[in-house]
Amino acid sequence: MPHVIAIANEKGGVAKTTTALSVGGALVEIGYEVLLVDLDAQANLTLGVGLRPDTLRRTVADVLLNTSSALSASRETDLPGLDIIPANEEMNTAERFLPIRQNYQFILRNALHGLQLYDYILLDCPPSLGAVTSNALMAAERLIVPTQAEYFSAYALRNMLQLIRRIRQDGNPTLVYNILITMLDRRNRIHRTIEGQIRSKFTERVFQTVIQIDTKLRESTVAGLPVTHFSKSSRSAQQYRALAQELIQYVEEAETIA
Ligand SMILES: Nc1ncnc2c1ncn2[C@@H]1O[C@H](COP(=O)(O)OP(=O)(O)O)[C@@H](O)[C@H]1O
Ligand SMILES: [Mg+2]
Repeated sequence: MPHVIAIANEKGGVAKTTTALSVGGALVEIGYEVLLVDLDAQANLTLGVGLRPDTLRRTVADVLLNTSSALSASRETDLPGLDIIPANEEMNTAERFLPIRQNYQFILRNALHGLQLYDYILLDCPPSLGAVTSNALMAAERLIVPTQAEYFSAYALRNMLQLIRRIRQDGNPTLVYNILITMLDRRNRIHRTIEGQIRSKFTERVFQTVIQIDTKLRESTVAGLPVTHFSKSSRSAQQYRALAQELIQYVEEAETIA
């Protein structure tokens, strides 16, 4: 069975999409089969693998509205081993109609159930904690919460933690989360202080690996490639490789306990 990992934070611009793409690249590099699922109407992940959202016949919206299977909505990217279920603005419609459907929280979990051939499925969530993110958390065994080392986004984790508790109660009792500190500027005293505060509050829930600021990440998305393949020896490529290793370790540890 694939390991399903959701990447969510209600705040935009915290590197959710960048993390999905870069971790995906790092996992593919190791030899895993990876499926990315773009759940955001802004389609940044879809663009990030070089697809044009306005030319897509089948998208993740069709999967959520049950008019297409996950398999038929998935497609290969230019990077062998990396597939994607893309998104476009039809996700806005899907998001609106999702909550009126019966057992709507389980639609994505059920849709992904048949996809046995992948080792990892990475779910890139929209910047909100609505029906789509609930679906992703219900489908996932683990959640990565990218967060910037600034006071506001640390505070915003409250709502996320509340949603995690609800999802555990409603049908996914083993959901675990890890906080990822992104866009860290080590020269910035406030960043260093906030990193310390996040680590002392969330202890082992925080990835040891941090992602520092690196303009290569922006360039790689424009180039339609994960940074691990766009700029192999860049600092962020190395940090995302380290993150992928840490993720694999946690996932495998959880597997032996279960
Ligand atoms: N570590 C980083 N250093 C510099 N820029 C980054 C970094 N991570 C992400 N970015 C840039 O920040 C912007 C927001 O990132 P994105 O992944 O789209 O966030 P989200 O999906 O949470 O909205 C993008 O332009 C992205 O290229
Ligand atoms: Mg995004």
